[in-house]
Formats: sequence, structure tokens, C-alpha cells
Amino acid sequence: MAGYASVALEETFSPPAGSVLWNKEFLLGAATAAYQIEGAVDEDGRIPSIWDTFSATPGKTLAGDTGAVACGHYHRWEEDVELLASLNVGAYRLSIAWPRVMTEDGAPNHAGIAFYRKLLTALRAKGLKTFVTLYHWDLPQHLEDQGGWTNRDTAYRFAEYADMISRELAGLVDAWATLNEPWCSAMHGYGTGHHAPGKQDVVLATRAMHHLLLGHGLAAARLRANDPAAQVGIVTNVGRGTSNGATDADQHAAWLFELQHNNWILDPLLKKSYPSALWELWPGAEPPVHAGDMEVIGCKLDFLGINYYFRTNVVSDGKHGYLEVDLEGVERTQMGWEVYPEGLRHLLVGFHRDYPNLPPIYITENGTASDDQVIGGEVNDINRISFLNRHLAAVDQAVKQGVDVRGYFIWSLMDNFEWAFGYERRFGIIHVDYATQKRTLKRSAKLVTQFLAERNSK
Ligand code: FCB
Repeated sequence: MAGYASVALEETFSPPAGSVLWNKEFLLGAATAAYQIEGAVDEDGRIPSIWDTFSATPGKTLAGDTGAVACGHYHRWEEDVELLASLNVGAYRLSIAWPRVMTEDGAPNHAGIAFYRKLLTALRAKGLKTFVTLYHWDLPQHLEDQGGWTNRDTAYRFAEYADMISRELAGLVDAWATLNEPWCSAMHGYGTGHHAPGKQDVVLATRAMHHLLLGHGLAAARLRANDPAAQVGIVTNVGRGTSNGATDADQHAAWLFELQHNNWILDPLLKKSYPSALWELWPGAEPPVHAGDMEVIGCKLDFLGINYYFRTNVVSDGKHGYLEVDLEGVERTQMGWEVYPEGLRHLLVGFHRDYPNLPPIYITENGTASDDQVIGGEVNDINRISFLNRHLAAVDQAVKQGVDVRGYFIWSLMDNFEWAFGYERRFGIIHVDYATQKRTLKRSAKLVTQFLAERNSK
């Protein structure tokens, strides 16, 4: 367990007295996404998605892993709901697979919809709040064949999907999120190519972002109309950028990093404009914006979902941009990501300061990957317990500094298909043995369960 030597073995999950965690209204939940857990990719009329295509392409994922089987959740959902409810958590964040619920010609696929209806009904019956994301990266492949998110038309197709599914599932959802992490869909999908569909052109990435955000705004209106009792929001990943460089140019590089990761999305959503400095970073990459688009994008949000994982150190590239340079000697997870809870507090307080209309926040993802092993029936993931303690303390500090954070979802409920990193990287509080699909509660899950039992009994 390199990097965690300083963590005591008897690490417990026990927020200090006075922490917002002790407030029963503060939601503690767990999160997953469809392609990462469901499997059953060609059952009951599900059509191919860009992740089926991408993961089946040699060299795109570690060990050639795909989501074809994943955690088998499509068939094991009842067991998984029981497990989830046994944790005493108040909420579950899941996503709906667009290719499972809509046919190529845009008609509802009733067999796929029935799966989510059963699942959401069972979650509600257990008293769990349901946070449902419409798009966690699994674009139907036939839409990618028409240009995917670089094609403006995809925004309208997304709104049609949101319209259909919110009519079908109205009354079963507490909070709808339109998109998960548009930054990753746009940048990793069309810029770096690390994610499906694997394109590598920043001009495509900025177009994709605009159409994702437009799709968000169009979809949000449909969700509100069809399911007025539910909250409507969006989930965005945020990054903390700092520089250990000595020059002003280095400090500017860190500012640019955050502009590119955070403000690229938050400004359109909360200020109805893109930050103009983006087009200095990426000359000529300004997307085509039609009259009225920014009004649609800047629609009312009931909540903002924030996904936070790590800090990035950068230096100036000597031109208009930045270079990422790993810091030596810092604590890192199995992903290689730096453990940096202070970044979460810093960002939350900064958003609260910079965006007067910032809606209530849920931390919709935070967590860590580790090479967890089942030994004698137990998984002693002390590093994860320490990670959660420290990040929840950061959230508590942000709340005490005035930020309206209403809940926190652990990524993830269970080990799953970690995109380009396949099954090797384990983020779950529940261990999954992929050979047998056996689920084992890790020590982190047991401690969270105990804490919530105590909190809920007060
Ligand atoms: C986020 C994704 C989520 C998961 C975590 C580790 O970017 O939203 O699906 O893969 O990273």
C-alpha cells in the first residue's frame, strides 16, 4: 500500500461532532453509471453505444476490457438494491442508458424502460432518494455515425430522449441530471481521444461542448414540464489547478487550467457566456453559437452536481497554454491521482464567491481507486476510509464557509468498468469478483453503514 503508510490501520469513519455529516438532512449516497455496471449490452433491444464500439477497438482500453458483462447489474439489480439499502444510505445516483430505452428511429424501447421502472420503484420502496443522470457517456452509435456531439442535431435528439423518458418515469425520480461531466464527453471524447468516440481535435471538442450544453438546456425544459415535482440539474467534473512554478506565467498557467476545466462549463451555465480567454488558449476553436443558444444553456438549475477527484500541477508552456507536471512525493491513488482534499474546499468556496446565482450543490462523485483484495472474506480498504474522511471534512469546511452543499455521493457503490482503465481500477465500497460476480462489502462500506445507523438513530 505505497503512499498510505501513514494511515493508521484502525482508521474509523466518524465525522467529528458539529460536522454537517451528522445532520440527517445531509444526504449521503453512492453512485454508479449504466455502462460501468449493467452489462447485458445486447439484451432486450439495447442498441450499440459509442462505448461498445470504442472498448471493442484494440488498444483503447487496458487489457481490452469492455462493459459487455461488467457487474451483471442488469440481471442482479435486486441483489444490488438489497445491498445498497443495507448500507443505510439515503440516496442512490444511477444513470439511464440511452441506447437501452430508445430505438434507432426514436421510439421508446419498452423492455429497456421496464428495467429502470422496476429498479426505481424498488429503490423508492426502500426509502432511497433517486438521482438519475440521463447521459453518462453512452451515446447511441448511430448518432455518432452522424457526427455525434459535433453535430448540432444531437442536442435535439437528446432532448427528445429526455422528453420520452421523463414522461415514462415521472414520479419515480427525485433529481434528474441531464449530463454527467460534459468536459469529459467533449474533451476526452473529441479532444484527447482517451474516451469514446476517440477523436482528437480541439475544434471538435469545443463544438461538442456547445452541443452538449445546448442539449442540457433543451432537455432541462422537457424534464421540468414532464416531472414538475423533481429537481433538475447537471453534473460537472471540476479540477483544482496549481503551479509550483515561480513565474507569473506559471501562475497564469494554473489559472488557465481551471478556466479550461471549470469555467468553460460553469460560465455558460451560470453567466450565459463562454470565457473569452478560452479562445486565446485555443485560437480558432470558438464553436458556432446560434442566437438564443446561451439563454437555453443558462436555464434555471435546481442543483449543481460536482464531481471532484484530484489536483493538477502545471507550468507555463512558454506560449499561451500550460503543461502538466506531476509533483513528486505526494500521496496518490491507484489511478495516479493526487489525494488533495483541500482542492475540493477551495473550489467550492471559489464557486460560491464567483457565481452569485450558484444553485445548491451535491457532491455527485468523489472517491478513490485501490488494488483491493478479499483476504479471509474481508477487504480492509483503510486508504479509502481515510480518503472519505478527509474529503468529507473538506466539504464540511466549505459548508461552514457558506457554501450550500446538500449531499455527497461516494464513487462508487461497487467496483466497475473504469472506462479506458477497464476492471483493474477498483473504486467501489463493495468489492466485485468479476469471475463469480460475488459482492463483498469492504470495510469502508461497513463503517459508513455503522455511522449512518448511529446518525439516523439520534
Ligand atoms: C468520473 C466518471 C465516473 C468514474 C469516475 C472515476 O470522471 O464520471 O464514471 O469513472 O470518474
